[in-house]
Amino acid sequence: MEAPCMVLLTLLLLLPAQTNIAVAASKSPAQLFSNDSLFVDRNNFPASFKFGSLTWAIKHEAACYDDGKSDGVWDVFARQQGTVFDGTTPAAGGDHYNRFPEDIQLLVDLGMDSYRFSIAWPRMFPNGTGEVNLLAVEHYNDLIDKLLDAGIEPFVTLYEQDMPQILEDTYGGLLNARFIDDFVLFANACFNAFGDRVKHWITFDEGNDFVPFSYAGTYGPPGRCTVGQPPYNCSAGNSATEPYIAGHNVLLAHAATVDLYRRTYQPSQQGEIGMAIWFRWYEPLTNSTEDKEAAARALDFSVGWFIEPVLYGDYPISMKKIVGSRLPSFTEEESERIRGSVDFIGLNAVTSIYVTNNDERNVSFPGYFEEWGVKRTAYRDGVVIGRYDDEYYVPWGLEKVVNYMRTYYDNIPTYVTALGWGLRSTTTVNDDVRVEFYAQYLKYLIKGISAGADVRGMFAWSLMDGFETIYGLETRFGLYYTDDAFNRYPKLSALWFKNMLTSNTTLVYKS
Ligand SMILES: *[C@@H]1O[C@H](CO)[C@@H](O)[C@H](O)[C@H]1NC(C)=O
Ligand SMILES: *[C@@H]1O[C@H](CO)[C@@H](O)[C@H](O)[C@H]1NC(C)=O
Ligand SMILES: *[C@@H]1O[C@H](CO)[C@@H](O)[C@H](O)[C@H]1NC(C)=O
Ligand SMILES: *[C@@H]1O[C@H](CO)[C@@H](O)[C@H](O)[C@H]1NC(C)=O
Ligand SMILES: *[C@@H]1O[C@H](CO)[C@@H](O)[C@H](O)[C@H]1NC(C)=O
Ligand SMILES: *[C@@H]1O[C@H](CO)[C@@H](O)[C@H](O)[C@H]1NC(C)=O
Repeated sequence: MEAPCMVLLTLLLLLPAQTNIAVAASKSPAQLFSNDSLFVDRNNFPASFKFGSLTWAIKHEAACYDDGKSDGVWDVFARQQGTVFDGTTPAAGGDHYNRFPEDIQLLVDLGMDSYRFSIAWPRMFPNGTGEVNLLAVEHYNDLIDKLLDAGIEPFVTLYEQDMPQILEDTYGGLLNARFIDDFVLFANACFNAFGDRVKHWITFDEGNDFVPFSYAGTYGPPGRCTVGQPPYNCSAGNSATEPYIAGHNVLLAHAATVDLYRRTYQPSQQGEIGMAIWFRWYEPLTNSTEDKEAAARALDFSVGWFIEPVLYGDYPISMKKIVGSRLPSFTEEESERIRGSVDFIGLNAVTSIYVTNNDERNVSFPGYFEEWGVKRTAYRDGVVIGRYDDEYYVPWGLEKVVNYMRTYYDNIPTYVTALGWGLRSTTTVNDDVRVEFYAQYLKYLIKGISAGADVRGMFAWSLMDGFETIYGLETRFGLYYTDDAFNRYPKLSALWFKNMLTSNTTLVYKS
């Protein structure tokens, strides 16, 4: 291990004078690493456990119109007044498209063995459909080859909220089952071009989260919900039907994609394919039967909605009972196709909340969220569930999630596909509270794995700061700080990861 004071000195010397970066570390790396509560031993994870970081195309690539890329729905949505808090667009997102060779070096430097990124559909198919854009194929080939040369395994996500705008305009995007064929065409082009080298595929990321926020609210494109429903101001939509329709189409597209992969590519390419979900843990506030049932309902509506079809071929019974005919149903053939359509499930599991039963489902504005029949609260007996910054940080929630996957969902193999905590308005590399976040969450993850949960890796969200959708640049999740010129500076959390993975705390910044 390097001498601690040298490390701090290195940090100080390498950070150029920047008005927007606080240079003086509130804690030195030495203080962090000598503190038992922040110490995590890599050897407590299985030897094959993968450690990686990740980016998303819309959040980190920028280069929005390079090499023939067309508008994705986020490019257009972000340009509308009032959608993104600070008025930024995906163009502000880190320039990973051009800087990926240096970013691969950052991963190597951190001691990571895996990298999760997404392929932008509007890059591969600027017209949404038709002919593949060969410049995009060349770009992702280059990224994949350089990752493999550096000894980093690629995990590739196909859909990360980047519907080509032209398909949104032509037929309404996810609301129209026509999107399924276009998505499969895109997926086929990816398997065909990259599948000889990519062995881990994720079809859709967080469909169970972006669908409700885009079709029962205005936190994502197209921002549709029931007209007049507070606090939104939607000019069109229906929060009681559209989330279920869009979700159903996403699930059918997932099933068709996996079917294609398994028939045509998996036998020779030998990769694995799965889906990633947003997994907020819902903890009953009390031990009353009503609250326990409320928590079970919340889990069904949030994660069971997507997990039960891909494992068992149908929606959770509780949802079918409550939503009734508004919930689309699977034909026998569809059910057969989607059942068992995952080799693993990705868990984006970063936060938890208490829930209690709510008998008064809101009849003025019935919708996806209202009909769960739960109230959420962050307090139990006056004590807050966890530290707050946009989300509550609740380390024990991760152990609950992996235990739930083990006991309730047959211990299907999982990866923690995104683990990160955003700090609002923090223009600093001193993310020592995030070091604590990672250390505490990983300690609870180790407990879950020790109890038998089949968790095969974790990905720190995110490699560098980026365009965080509605938060723009206001919330920063990166292990590396990104300035306005897209230079990268290691935060304390980057040093912490490097120390855990390599016992070396020297890191360099890239410009
Ligand atoms: C160790 O870290 C914990 C969690 O961040 C903190 O509460 C505690 O004050 C630290 N102890 C020392 C000696 O720095
Ligand atoms: C997209 O459509 C336009 C107009 O039809 C055509 O000129 C262009 O070649 C198409 N691009 C691709 C990549 O297929
Ligand atoms: C609601 O949206 C309409 C346009 O769709 C706009 O004219 C109006 O100012 C908005 N109202 C509020 C309160 O944002
Ligand atoms: C619920 O019951 C368990 C087991 O008896 C107990 O450990 C726990 O503290 C109780 N939780 C609440 C919120 O009362
Ligand atoms: C139903 O929603 C409306 C609008 O948000 C709100 O004013 C009302 O208090 C809600 N009723 C219940 C029972 O939650
Ligand atoms: C620590 O990491 C730095 C930067 O990657 C490297 O230059 C140095 O050789 C490493 N030191 C040790 C002891 O491994």
